[in-house]
Amino acid sequence: MKRSHHCNQLTIDEIGTKVRLIGWVNAIRDHGGLFFIDLRDREGITQLVFDPSSEGLRAVHSLRDESVIEVCGIVSKRPPDTVNGKITTGAIEVVVNELIIHNICDVLPFPMSDLKIDSVSEDLRLTYRYLDLRRPKSFHRLQIRHRTVGAVRNYLDENGFLEIETPYLFKTTPEGAREFLVPSRLNPGCVYALAQSPQQYKQMLMVAGVERYYSLARCFRDEDLRADRQPEFTQIDLEMSFIDREDIYSLVEGMLQNIWKATRNITIETPFPRLSFRNAMDRFGSDKPDTRFAMEIHDFSNLFESSSFNVFASTIKNGGCVKAFNGKSLAGISQGEMKNLEDIAKTLGAKGLAYIKIENGQWKSPILKFLSDGEKAVLAKELAMAENDIIFFAADGWERACTILGRIRLECRDLAMAKGKIVLPDDQFNFLWVIDFPLMTFDEQQGRFVATHHPFTAPVPEDMELLKSAPQNVRGQHYDIVLNGMELGGGSVRIHQPQLQEYVFKEILKIPENMVNDRFGYMLKAFKFGAPPHGGIALGLDRLVALLCGTTSIRDVIAFPKTQRGIDMMSQSPCPASDKQLRELYIKMTVDSGSKK
Ligand code: AMO
Ligand code: AMP
Repeated sequence: MKRSHHCNQLTIDEIGTKVRLIGWVNAIRDHGGLFFIDLRDREGITQLVFDPSSEGLRAVHSLRDESVIEVCGIVSKRPPDTVNGKITTGAIEVVVNELIIHNICDVLPFPMSDLKIDSVSEDLRLTYRYLDLRRPKSFHRLQIRHRTVGAVRNYLDENGFLEIETPYLFKTTPEGAREFLVPSRLNPGCVYALAQSPQQYKQMLMVAGVERYYSLARCFRDEDLRADRQPEFTQIDLEMSFIDREDIYSLVEGMLQNIWKATRNITIETPFPRLSFRNAMDRFGSDKPDTRFAMEIHDFSNLFESSSFNVFASTIKNGGCVKAFNGKSLAGISQGEMKNLEDIAKTLGAKGLAYIKIENGQWKSPILKFLSDGEKAVLAKELAMAENDIIFFAADGWERACTILGRIRLECRDLAMAKGKIVLPDDQFNFLWVIDFPLMTFDEQQGRFVATHHPFTAPVPEDMELLKSAPQNVRGQHYDIVLNGMELGGGSVRIHQPQLQEYVFKEILKIPENMVNDRFGYMLKAFKFGAPPHGGIALGLDRLVALLCGTTSIRDVIAFPKTQRGIDMMSQSPCPASDKQLRELYIKMTVDSGSKK
């Protein structure tokens, strides 16, 4: 090593020692006669003192922030009034007698300090990602990611899992996300698909007798991107034979406990609460409920069945419901904020967003005149309405009413946080399992059932007999794990009987026979050769690390993420292919290479 110590190491114990340090210039202060430089490496900061008049140190004048220098000097005690108690090396400084300049940094494209970074556009930071990552906060996030992966490997190894890699170049399969296709030069006219997940391979590993598999698998999905979605992301993916749902719950709870301990030294309590899909939707309006704050949704369909407010009464008569929740202490929201909530509700299909506020002891609402005293009394009691509260209603079909209020509830959380009405501590982690999802959901657009999770999920045994008569009422052996309102992972016990799998493909999902044979034929065949009962789960590693780091954008915890438009700003990918490359792959582009969408 070129250096004798790193920049977070020297204390008064080393006073008088000759040391060699190397790192980046974090800040330069010219104190007339003496130069002070904070030298930074990934471990921390050490203060250097230069006398620029001394031979060999004059070049200090040419340094700029982020230049790379190597120095030799003697550790000295700082004068008492300049001691910095906040950093490990705050009691000493290094009096430099030799300076080697390795690289003079250009003018920086943005200020690097954590204080100013928030005002820099994300595109600019991603263009210079190597500078953005050089910030201590970014390094800390990479470290947490590294420790997470270490904890996962240790835990799964101790539990008898084998880490096995599966192909990224897979075959295109229906029933999942949109795929990235890779043309095959050796097989003209054929394509691979980049694997959306190792799902089918991990099931094959169970047929192969592996019993316990895991991998830190890169997955590729050509989806519309958001803060919690990237086109390539990483899963902690695992599969086990001879288990039931309870085995997966306890295994994953133990794994998460280990991760939180290893990365944040936090003890999380197990077992995690469980909520049925129906209950999660009813109470929180979401299949990934944030249970850190109340504002629970209540059902008032019985109350308003014969109400004189026709919007409510007629919705109920037509098979819908009326639901409401108390946006605690938010009566004072501005007209603009209110309009925003109404607009959000409308984008979800709401016909309106009725509300009641209590201000100065008075109820205020456009629907007040329609409500009887009896109805008001029930609302007040059930929703514990108090001064400065505002309650919101949705009258609609069950699922839509839940979804609308679920979303408004989250908006109310954000408003309440911004106004200091609720505080969510950054060490609060509300894990929960959502279970008992419907196996299938009817897709109006396609006019057929689609798998709620994926087509390999097994039905709940008690519901098996409904499979033919009422598939919509069959629950799947599917579970999602949710943390603070984010879906962290999902999995299921799988179908392992070839007849049942074939029935689901053909008779329920209505996948044409030739497609079933072409795309899933190998799987149906494998299941005829001694397939063990099996199940598994995949957790989104990026989401998990983001939550550990207290951020909601997974871009913050991926070294080289893509933008919302799927672009790597630093390398400027994707980019057009040459005519020669395209010819070799038998591809003709219909968009000319210069034009953009
Ligand atoms: P699923 O599709 O639910 O299940 O994915 C599992 C978890 O992966 C994460 N995830 C994503 N993270 C970032 N960007 C994305 N685009 C993205 N898509 C998904 C989420 C999600 O909960 N093979 C099944 C698992 C199984 O059944 O075992 C699967 O992939 O955190
Ligand atoms: P209207 O009688 O249509 O003027 O509606 C009176 C109030 O009820 C307005 O505040 C609307 O926003 C609200 N409203 C109308 N339809 C619904 C609905 N389906 N769910 C909730 N609120 C509604």
